[in-house]
Amino acid sequence: MRAQMVLGNWKMHGSLVGNKTLLDGVLAGLAGVDSVHCGVCVPFPYLFQAQFILQGSQVIWGAQNVSQHEKGAFTGEVSVGMLNDLGCNIVLVGHSERRAIYGEDDATVAEKFVAAQKAGIKPILCVGETLEEREKNITADVVKRQLLAVVDKAGLDALKDCVVAYEPVWAIGTGKTATPQQAQEVHAFIRGLFAEKNAELAENLTILYGGSVKASNAVELFSMPDIDGGLIGGASLDINEFVSICKAAQPKAV
Ligand code: 13P
Repeated sequence: MRAQMVLGNWKMHGSLVGNKTLLDGVLAGLAGVDSVHCGVCVPFPYLFQAQFILQGSQVIWGAQNVSQHEKGAFTGEVSVGMLNDLGCNIVLVGHSERRAIYGEDDATVAEKFVAAQKAGIKPILCVGETLEEREKNITADVVKRQLLAVVDKAGLDALKDCVVAYEPVWAIGTGKTATPQQAQEVHAFIRGLFAEKNAELAENLTILYGGSVKASNAVELFSMPDIDGGLIGGASLDINEFVSICKAAQPKAV
């Protein structure tokens, strides 16, 4: 069985009061459903609150970004040690919004990946092509480049303890979901890329799809053979939507 997972990425949304309602609702909605691994990636100021509400539950929590540096004069940054202090389990690295808006390149993403793993925090490595890249037919090249930058830095074995999230940039927050076939094609490509070198590692690699996943399309997407759950933006802010999406990710035999 390959681990199926649903993670919420709240992005820059939330408030103390709203988060409590959301997390309490998610916990209540998932009570008794223990077949699904799910979690939330929250803004830094709310990590403590996530820890307080979620500790001891089946819902894991983490951050949306982390510094590649251990400590020092990096105003505004947060280190893996700080995330570790709070008991974070996961951290997103290389989200397309970090790459596009904050100029994170492949090398920086790889450094963040390594820093997180070294601290015992599971990196959720985000990859994906822009619309322009898809239209130029270079989706596979882009995704391969993004992944191999990490493999070159961290080594192939490092992929045993991470999750990959394929998020086509053109499908993020646009309401335009990749069709299950379009997503499956890229997921199969990603798995195939590593299968050549280590079949077992590739079989066990959890690859999430992200980009306008909703309760209404989650079952179909997650039923594809190489899609192991989702990384959810907008819909993770709605209790019913997020709970339904989590329930749509059922364990899959490989
Ligand atoms: P949406 O689900 O809002 O399209 O966002 C996807 C995403 O970027 C998750 O990281």
